[in-house]
Amino acid sequence: MKFFVDTADIHEIEDLAATGLIDGVTTNPSLVAKSGQEFVPLIKEICKLVSGPVSAEVAGTDYETMRKEAEILRNIANNVAIKVPLTPAGLRLCKELSHDGTQVNVTLCFSAAQALLAAKAGAAFISPFVGRLDDISADGMGLIQDIKTIYKNYPQFKTEILVASIRSPAHITEAAKIGANVITAPASVIKQLYKHPLTDKGLAAFVEDWSKSGQSIL
Ligand code: E4P
Repeated sequence: MKFFVDTADIHEIEDLAATGLIDGVTTNPSLVAKSGQEFVPLIKEICKLVSGPVSAEVAGTDYETMRKEAEILRNIANNVAIKVPLTPAGLRLCKELSHDGTQVNVTLCFSAAQALLAAKAGAAFISPFVGRLDDISADGMGLIQDIKTIYKNYPQFKTEILVASIRSPAHITEAAKIGANVITAPASVIKQLYKHPLTDKGLAAFVEDWSKSGQSIL
């Protein structure tokens, strides 16, 4: 399973890239606005830090505007994945860009039918938003299972399931149990994956006992 970090904060990306466990980055217009950074230079900087796919989202909603924006974004670096919304115009652009060999991440997916369309449009990634579905009392992980079942029925689909809008480590482990290809999560959630109270307690005991032994490995 690949781990992407869902942030436009360069310090968070630097920090997590150093773990060697991060395979890519996803951004969206809200995260970019929150960063306070200028979009194109920001994506350029992120692409230097991470060699895997860096999703950069178009801001327009009509086909012509999105196409022009995508042209600028894909010229930033080879590892930019163009993020488009799941709309007729977004999927039209997805089909064209994918045909040209550009990776496309289709975002704002909330149904299996939408995921089917994205696969037919040749998307490299489909981003179902599990947290936002859970927020309205729908079944986010149920959607991941449905998409997995559908894609498995059609081996010609190469679209990877990128589980997005993740709120907790449990979302990540559930996605892994289903066999999703990728998760994207905030840095805070990825950091929580390390945590277990018994690890902290056990380590504290080992440190104390080692110090009592009076030994040193170095
Ligand atoms: C995915 O690419 C999106 O950026 C993201 O996961 C949205 O998550 P949110 O629902 O926490 O905003």
